[in-house]
Amino acid sequence: MAGVGNLDASADPAPWWRDAVIYQIYVRSFADGNDDGIGDLPGIGSRLVSIRELGVDAVWLTPFYPSPQADGGYDVADYRDVDPRFGTLADFDRLLSDAHELGLRVIIDLVPNHTSSEHAWFRAALAAGPGSPERSRYVFRDGRGPEGDEPPNDWTSVFGGGAWRRVTEADGEQGQWYLHLFAPEQPDLDWTHPGVRNEFEAILRFWFDRGVDGFRIDVAHGLAKDADLADIDGRFAASGPARTGHPHWDQDDVHEVFRRWREISDEYDGDRTFVAEAWVHDPARLARYVRPDELHTAFDFNFLLAPWDAAAMRRTIDISIDTLGAVGAPSTWVLSNHDVVRHVTRYGGGSVGERRARAAALLMLALPGGAYIYQGEELGLDEVTDLPDDVLQDPTFVRTGGEERGRDGCRVPIPWSGDAPPFGFSASAEPWLPQPSAWRRRTVEAATADPASMRSLYRNALRARSSSAALGDGELEWIESPDGVLAFARPQDVVCVVNLGSVAASWRELVDDGAEVLVASGALANEHELPPDTAIWLRARPRPGDPSA
Ligand code: GLC
Ligand code: CA
Repeated sequence: MAGVGNLDASADPAPWWRDAVIYQIYVRSFADGNDDGIGDLPGIGSRLVSIRELGVDAVWLTPFYPSPQADGGYDVADYRDVDPRFGTLADFDRLLSDAHELGLRVIIDLVPNHTSSEHAWFRAALAAGPGSPERSRYVFRDGRGPEGDEPPNDWTSVFGGGAWRRVTEADGEQGQWYLHLFAPEQPDLDWTHPGVRNEFEAILRFWFDRGVDGFRIDVAHGLAKDADLADIDGRFAASGPARTGHPHWDQDDVHEVFRRWREISDEYDGDRTFVAEAWVHDPARLARYVRPDELHTAFDFNFLLAPWDAAAMRRTIDISIDTLGAVGAPSTWVLSNHDVVRHVTRYGGGSVGERRARAAALLMLALPGGAYIYQGEELGLDEVTDLPDDVLQDPTFVRTGGEERGRDGCRVPIPWSGDAPPFGFSASAEPWLPQPSAWRRRTVEAATADPASMRSLYRNALRARSSSAALGDGELEWIESPDGVLAFARPQDVVCVVNLGSVAASWRELVDDGAEVLVASGALANEHELPPDTAIWLRARPRPGDPSA
């Protein structure tokens, strides 16, 4: 599992996280172990072998902590336990040891920007009243205007509407306001408070001591807020990756928190790791999160957001490798997660979207660095866009008055087997979100039996990746190629060619004569041309003498 970019055999092997492929499990939607329609830890345990067979190095579990589920568990009421919907702490320990037994590492989700409004701290803050130490762990302020009935500033919630809610004080009067950058059930913590910092350090230790291999840091770019809570005043867009200077995203003070966390993870054996969820627009600002004494990796969302266009993709890839490489960090590629429209749909949907998604998988897995796979992308699942209003659970739907349908469409439970819902997700219960009947062609069972399925493609690619010293960590060398085509060589002997254009492209002249196809994302009409929206991995070297860009 060690990185392969390390040429000096006498040095320590590169740590596993530099080029790990990590499978994201959205716990509620992966597998239901007790037939109540909701995915859970025992369900995951029963499917570990299938994950191992896919060929990934680790899994990331989304939050399974006790939570009112106002935001799918990203509203945590207790950071040291398991919600009864998902199992028990003993189930967690069993899952962890079973995963380790199979050679799979386990990363869990840490949600430090906010707690649930049901967390003991927030309940105490409400009860204790203005000016109390209990309130100082959160961001409580008096309102503006003579009656204090206007919010303290103009910040808006990511889920729509204002970012402040007014509370009713013990005397029954309208009182202070508290900040919630997400749902009102997710009050923001005040990270200048030493007690907040200490508590999260203790939470890290709680789970590191249990044996977890790392944490995905939720909203890593949100912890520090401008000290004056300055108005945004139209200076920044309400959505999209944060621009520099924003008063509540990517403030410089977040970094001292992560430096401290790195010290803690370094105290543990076994290369424990962090991955930052930081929606930061400027790659150089993102690189600050992965400086040598901070978090190990950060998702590259610019790759996820890049259009299906060769020049745009290449630019994004180069910038990521260069800016992160400048601080010694690997890139971490990602195409989908539980917050964005599934990429089969983003890339055009239907057979076009699927072809592109297949090609994108080969592109992503050939790039230097690590990669995340979101459950179901290996089945070619598309966004479910016709969920009825009354099943939608994402707070975005209600908070935007139905204007945005929210993220439920990428969170529909996984189809495992059979011809009809619940497709083996539950034994017989109705899944918490309904599955499209068309997914009978997309079950794990069907995909495993079909050598041409998306899952078989991922499996073959991951197998080739782990058996090749060229893939994973290391260098990338671009090969000059026709418009619309990306071609690059990895050290030694692997070349990846991706045709993002609309006409077939010949690849033979890009590489030496002995080139041999290792994996192809789609059918090849002949031996020298790559159809549009198709990618190949070749055992080959760039043609000698070719000017490389
Ligand atoms: C992150 C999570 C998302 C959640 C939000 C608030 O962006 O990925 O699902 O809603 O944080 O915790
Ligand atoms: Ca269940």
